[in-house]
Amino acid sequence: MLTLTFIYNIQYFIKTLYINDIDNLEENMDSENIIYQRKSIRSFSSKKLSDNIIEEIVLDGTRAPSWENAQPWEVYVATGNSLENIRKQYMDSETMGKAPKSDLTIPGLGEWSKTSISNVEVWGESVKEAVGEKGTSDPEMQNADHNLFYAPAIVYITANINASEYSIYDIGAFGQTLMLAAKSKGVDSIPAFQFVKYPDIIKNVLEIPDNQKIVVGIGLGYADNSRLNNILTRRAPIDQILHIKK
Ligand SMILES: Cc1cc2nc3c(=O)[nH]c(=O)nc-3n(C[C@H](O)[C@H](O)[C@H](O)COP(=O)(O)O)c2cc1C
Repeated sequence: MLTLTFIYNIQYFIKTLYINDIDNLEENMDSENIIYQRKSIRSFSSKKLSDNIIEEIVLDGTRAPSWENAQPWEVYVATGNSLENIRKQYMDSETMGKAPKSDLTIPGLGEWSKTSISNVEVWGESVKEAVGEKGTSDPEMQNADHNLFYAPAIVYITANINASEYSIYDIGAFGQTLMLAAKSKGVDSIPAFQFVKYPDIIKNVLEIPDNQKIVVGIGLGYADNSRLNNILTRRAPIDQILHIKK
């Protein structure tokens, strides 16, 4: 009993730290800094993206650093009919209860550190603040998920099936560079497991060769007025993760 009370107090303490951190966040959200303006969008408007803007954003993404400039990425974009085809096959698969199986290993809860588990819980709180008590079970949220967030374009970044962990790092850098480039052009984004959970469907529709694995899918488009787009996520206090030794 004593241990439980202790754990509860620690969790409460961590949450208090996060809540104090929100002031900082809101200050930064107002800033001109594009890093603070980007956030994941879960309800896109029907406004289309031109091929030109997609090309510009992907071109900017290629400025990401990579091991010896190997640039171990390829990019496949689903939009228009190909995306509608993917969306329909995803919906049918979900309705049939098909199990998700992405090309990268799906992390199990047991693999996360206690800190990460606590961060996920705090994320759940942020969702509730924006969408209400039901949080991620909210029907509007579930519907958006089911509809691939209504994104008018999804950028799939792939790597060779034999790519090393460093290539996955490089592709992470590519993804973030691309999302910041998008935001700088007024285009919103979300990276989501939801987009990559049925790689067989994506590879078939986008004709992605067998020697490629799908690392990430990033939805692009323009945010609509949904409350799903009001989710403001916090970050753990810097002194929890930063270790400077002099
Ligand atoms: C690899 C990856 C997969 C993600 N998958 C999902 C997802 O399936 N559904 C979702 O709503 N958000 C997903 N997200 C978005 C995260 O929830 C989001 O990035 C995080 O809560 C931080 O919020 P922010 O992007 O608004 O700063 C994913 C993010 C990453 C990087």
